[in-house]
Amino acid sequence: MIVDEIRDYVAGECKSGRNAFGPAFFDEHLSVVARYAVELGGTLGADLEIVELAAWMHDLSAVQDFAVLPKHAALSAEIARKMLQERGYPAERIERVAACIASHSTPIQIGSGLLEEVCVSNADAISQIVKPSYWHYYIFKVRGFGFTEGRDWLRQRVASHWVALIPEARSLIETQYAQVEVCLKL
Ligand SMILES: [Fe+2]
Repeated sequence: MIVDEIRDYVAGECKSGRNAFGPAFFDEHLSVVARYAVELGGTLGADLEIVELAAWMHDLSAVQDFAVLPKHAALSAEIARKMLQERGYPAERIERVAACIASHSTPIQIGSGLLEEVCVSNADAISQIVKPSYWHYYIFKVRGFGFTEGRDWLRQRVASHWVALIPEARSLIETQYAQVEVCLKL
């Protein structure tokens, strides 16, 4: 099945020494995005295969080369197009996967894009709220921020993502958000 093949490929890329996000990125970020994107997809009636393919591949360009981080959404969409074309995936579906990847960095509201884009972009934001240990690792170890700068980056990121989530996404993580919000203020 194509989803399994893509997930396994991405898992291998995450284990590679060139993955600057660290090997935990697969379990602590990509798997979390996939899980919440599929959960939202079930609630909203999205195409779950499109959602899951996009979730596994949405950060792939930056996993392969951290230097492209500022434009990783567009580049990951390009990589996904190529990989799915090579595997004979239908062109119309490839474009939907690519759209989800290209727009994943900010939560999309219902009616402002494909339902699948809503799911992946909201799940990406959710993952940055519910996995504070990984995101501390990311900001202090991977990005090398100083204490105040990193703390404020996390506070700002969690607060802005929470506000931007669709109500269906917010209701999935209400408890975790309340706990993380308290911890980040300490
Ligand atoms: Fe992501």
